[in-house]
Amino acid sequence: KKIAVIGAPMDLGQNRRGVDMGPSALRYAGLIERLQSIGYHVDDMGDIPIDRPGEVSEEKTNLKNLGEVIKANELLCLHVEKAVANGYFPLVLGGDHSIAIGTLAGVAKRRHQLGVIWYDAHGDLNTAETSPSGNIHGMPLAVSLGIGHEKLTSIGGFAPKIKPENVVIIGARSLDEGEKAYIREHGMKIFTMHEVDRLGMTRVMEEAIAHVSNGTDGVHLSLDLDGLDPNDAPGVGTPVLGGISYRESHLAMEMLAEAEIVTSAEFVEVNPILDERNKTAEVAVELMGSLFGEKLL
Ligand code: ARG
Ligand code: MN
Ligand code: MN
Ligand code: MN
Repeated sequence: KKIAVIGAPMDLGQNRRGVDMGPSALRYAGLIERLQSIGYHVDDMGDIPIDRPGEVSEEKTNLKNLGEVIKANELLCLHVEKAVANGYFPLVLGGDHSIAIGTLAGVAKRRHQLGVIWYDAHGDLNTAETSPSGNIHGMPLAVSLGIGHEKLTSIGGFAPKIKPENVVIIGARSLDEGEKAYIREHGMKIFTMHEVDRLGMTRVMEEAIAHVSNGTDGVHLSLDLDGLDPNDAPGVGTPVLGGISYRESHLAMEMLAEAEIVTSAEFVEVNPILDERNKTAEVAVELMGSLFGEKLL
């Protein structure tokens, strides 16, 4: 098995600079060596280039840095699709969560019934109309489901990329009103922190795995480090108290490894400027170890 590591040093999908250094922080934490030691052939494809934002935005919309976000995601889509076509497992390093738009576009070109695990404190189901912030990192799941600004949903040349019934959200504890309405309307599968506490991570993952593998031709893991509790992953731009623990997250990754369902992944929102001595990147690399089947014995 071979893995293509693709860096997406994007920080324009939200307000806090520094998350563009996420790919560097993850490599510095030993990501490549870690995956090699598990026995994978790893090709580091480097980082995609990201434009700096222009002085004036051409459009008056509630979508910050729209042009730059579109351009980067079109490029990311091409790289991810190429990796899949060449038989790689694409592992994308964020960058803020807006890069999931390009990752999912690239994967979905090759997998038409893609299952998605959205591991996150947030739903990322906003549109320009429902977003309280105008930050595109709060919108990538909506965009991939085909809702939002046409210039975002049409990235990669087709829409939608995924279907609501093939998605599961895990770890949510901060949802905006428009996001709640979308989840209710579409009966989306979601394990909020209430369910994680009540059912335990074992049952949550058993049900999540069954849900995303039913009738799908691949599963993408989109892991926002803010899904974890800020005590375990402090280096994120939008921390929310009461998150998934370090241990629960390892268990989740180990169960995904055992189930052998994940065909692509991204780890996003690592911000080394807000971090404590690269702790969050180190946690992310450890979780990648578990996701790719690392065993103690
Ligand atoms: N819901 C909020 C917003 O739309 C926060 C989104 C946070 N997203 C993230 N990928 N960390 O602005
Ligand atoms: Mn090689
Ligand atoms: Mn989040
Ligand atoms: Mn997110």
